[in-house]
Amino acid sequence: MTVADANSTRGLVDLRSDTVTRPTAGMRAAMADAEVGDDVYAEDPSVNALEAEVAALFGHEAALFAPTGSMANQIALQLLVPPGEELLCDADAHVVTYEIGAAAAYGGISSRTWTSVGADIDPEVVAGMVRPDGYHAVPTRAIAVEQTHNRGGGGVIPLGTLRDLRRVADDAGLGLHCDGARIWHAHVADGVPLIEYGRLFDTLSVCLSKGLGAPVGSVIVGSAEKMTRARLLRKRMGGGMRQAGVLAAAGRYALAHHVERLAEDHARAARLAEAVAPFGVLAAPVRTNLVPLDLGKAALDAPGLAAAARAEGVLVSVLGPRIARLVTHLDLDDAGVDRAADVLTRILRG
Ligand SMILES: Cc1ncc(COP(=O)(O)O)c(C=O)c1O
Repeated sequence: MTVADANSTRGLVDLRSDTVTRPTAGMRAAMADAEVGDDVYAEDPSVNALEAEVAALFGHEAALFAPTGSMANQIALQLLVPPGEELLCDADAHVVTYEIGAAAAYGGISSRTWTSVGADIDPEVVAGMVRPDGYHAVPTRAIAVEQTHNRGGGGVIPLGTLRDLRRVADDAGLGLHCDGARIWHAHVADGVPLIEYGRLFDTLSVCLSKGLGAPVGSVIVGSAEKMTRARLLRKRMGGGMRQAGVLAAAGRYALAHHVERLAEDHARAARLAEAVAPFGVLAAPVRTNLVPLDLGKAALDAPGLAAAARAEGVLVSVLGPRIARLVTHLDLDDAGVDRAADVLTRILRG
């Protein structure tokens, strides 16, 4: 029985997030067979292999395994921005929306945001926000972007925009970080090689536990010097793990088997979007696996829709009073999409 089958027998279609997936049989076998050691001593062969693999994928010298995407982002930000200095990012970025003030709490980092535009970043607007070194204002040290943009409806930042942002960062002597929790989706949607993305950033954090289906884990990517410091910051934040190779093995399996298949998730998201389009899809066209639903014109608000759908075995996220979100992933099959489309459109028609 596949996991998708198991979900349908439980009677649930879970569209809340791509983090709800459970390891496949093949992934569990890889985890069971993993060679392990103590990763705080850097002696876990599976972790070391994962780090080397991910560093090479993005064309960087080194990488570091981290328990979560949030910790990976926060370590990277601390590498780029000293305490009391400034990070620029989108107002809806995960790093300033869902990481519980970590940049300020752990890194003493001051964050300033541009009005949220999802993936449609204007590099000139960002350039205009940069504050120079000096005595009077908080100096800007880094820019962070999110690829794909979660609250921006899974939008993909075009390669040309990223190149322009790199120029803005270089001109002002700033670091450039990518929260690449779903960079795999951007790679599959736009066909941009991961190495092309990699070379544009000083640091990236990439998640193995979102679309790729591993149970746990993210990887920070950067120079060897930065990753030496990242190892210390990870330990300070309590993220030094011991026989983490069982988790790294899941991540390696995910990289080998679950990247190219993301195209299926994108196609299913497009089908869902088409079904709910008459009720308003925010950030259309849907490019990847996230479908933000704008209930501005509907009779039900987002919590109302979520409750009614849950009663029929379909789970959706509430992102705001009138914004719901549907997410496709590894544990969702075509039958699940059909059922969800049926239930949601029936409820929305009233
Ligand atoms: C864009 C983005 N960045 C970072 C994270 C954080 O990942 P984690 O939940 O592993 O901390 C998420 C989680 O959903 C995310 O969507």
